[in-house]
Amino acid sequence: MYFVTEVKKDIFHLGVNDRRKHLFENLWPLPNGVSYNSYLITDEKTVLIDTIESGSDGGYIEKIGELLGGRPLDYLVINHMEPDHSGEINAVVSAWPEVKIVGNAKTFSILKNYYGGTTELVEVKDGDTLSIGSHTLKFVLTPWVHWPETMMTYETSEKILFSADAFGTFGTLDGGVFDDEVNLEYYIDDMRRYYSNIVGKYGNMVQKAFAKLDGVEISTICPLHGPIWRSDLNKVLSLYDKWSRQEADKAVVIVFSSMYGNTEAIADYIARKVSLAGVRDIRVYDASKTHISYLISEIWRAKGLILGSCAYNGYMHPSMEHLTTELTHYGIKDKVFGIFGSYSWNGGGVRNLKCFAENASLQMACDPVEIAGKPDTEKLKQCDAFAETIAARVLE
Ligand code: FEO
Repeated sequence: MYFVTEVKKDIFHLGVNDRRKHLFENLWPLPNGVSYNSYLITDEKTVLIDTIESGSDGGYIEKIGELLGGRPLDYLVINHMEPDHSGEINAVVSAWPEVKIVGNAKTFSILKNYYGGTTELVEVKDGDTLSIGSHTLKFVLTPWVHWPETMMTYETSEKILFSADAFGTFGTLDGGVFDDEVNLEYYIDDMRRYYSNIVGKYGNMVQKAFAKLDGVEISTICPLHGPIWRSDLNKVLSLYDKWSRQEADKAVVIVFSSMYGNTEAIADYIARKVSLAGVRDIRVYDASKTHISYLISEIWRAKGLILGSCAYNGYMHPSMEHLTTELTHYGIKDKVFGIFGSYSWNGGGVRNLKCFAENASLQMACDPVEIAGKPDTEKLKQCDAFAETIAARVLE
C-alpha cells in the first residue's frame, strides 16, 4: 500500500512498507519490517529521487503517474544502486522512456551491470548542480555510505538532504512519517542495528560524509528507510556520528558459545562479578541462539566486550567463529575486551579467540580465563580479577 506525503510544497514522499520480507539482504531479520522511501519533486522539471525494491508492492508506477498528472518524468536521480532502491528503475524507464537518469560514473557502471542499457544518462561529479526550476539540486558524493557509488542530493532552496541509506532505519512507518509523528524510542534499537549491520563497516566513510556536509544548512533529512527527519535532526546526526566513531556506552556485552553449559556458567559468573563491580548495563547472549544481527548491534552499543567459547574440534564453537569472523570484517575497535572459555582435553576455544583478537587488533584488557571441565566454585575464582579489571576499565 503506497502512501504519499508532501514533505514540502511540490516535494513528495512515496513510501511503501515491506512487512513480508523476513531477511534484509537475505541475512538481517526484519521483525518490524522495513520501509522503502522514494521522493518526487514536481517543479518546471519533474524529478524522481531513487525508486523502491522491485515487487515490494504494486502500484508504484501508477502512483507516480497520478502525482505527475500527465506530465512527463524528466529526471530520475539515483543516489544508491542497491536493489532495495534501484529495483523499479526499468519500470520507471518503461513508463517514461524519455526520462534522463542522473548519477555518477560509478552509478552508471553498476547500473549497466544490473539493468543493461536503459536511457539517457546525465553524469554528475561531486558538487555539481542541476536546476529544475525554483529548486536546485546539488550532488554530494558519499562513497561507501553504503556502496561505492552512493551519493546524496541536497535541495538548496528548502535545504532538504536526500541522504540515501544514511540516517535510515529498519522498521516500517506505521502511520507516522516524520520524526515528530512517531515514538522515536521505538526506532532507536532498530536504527543502531541497521547502522551497525549495513553501514557499520564504513564508519570512516560516514565521518568523511559528515565532513563534507559540515556547514551545510539542513532543514530536513529524507533517508531511503524510516522516518523523515524535520524536527530533531540533531538526534539522528549525533547518533550516526557516535556510531561511526564507534563510541560506546558504559555497558558490557558478554557473548558465549556453550555446548554443555560450562562456558555459559562462566559467562553468568563473570556477569555477576561485573555487576558487583558497579556496571549497571550488562547483557549476556548465547551466540547459538541470538541472531548475529542483534549481537553486532549490541556489541556496537557497549564499551565492554567479553567473548567466551568452548572448544569444538580444536577450534572455537562455529557460532563464535561466525561472530568473530564478522567482527573482523566490520573492523570492530576500541573495546575493553576480554575472552574466556572451557575445554575438555586440548582446548581450542580460547586459543582461537586469541587469534581473533590478534587479527582484529583488539587489545585484551587482561589475561584470558580458561577452565577445564565443570566450572566449580574454586575454578571460577580466577574470573574475579578478570571481571573486576574489565568493569573498572568500562567505568573509567
Ligand atoms: Fe537500503 Fe544499501 O540499501
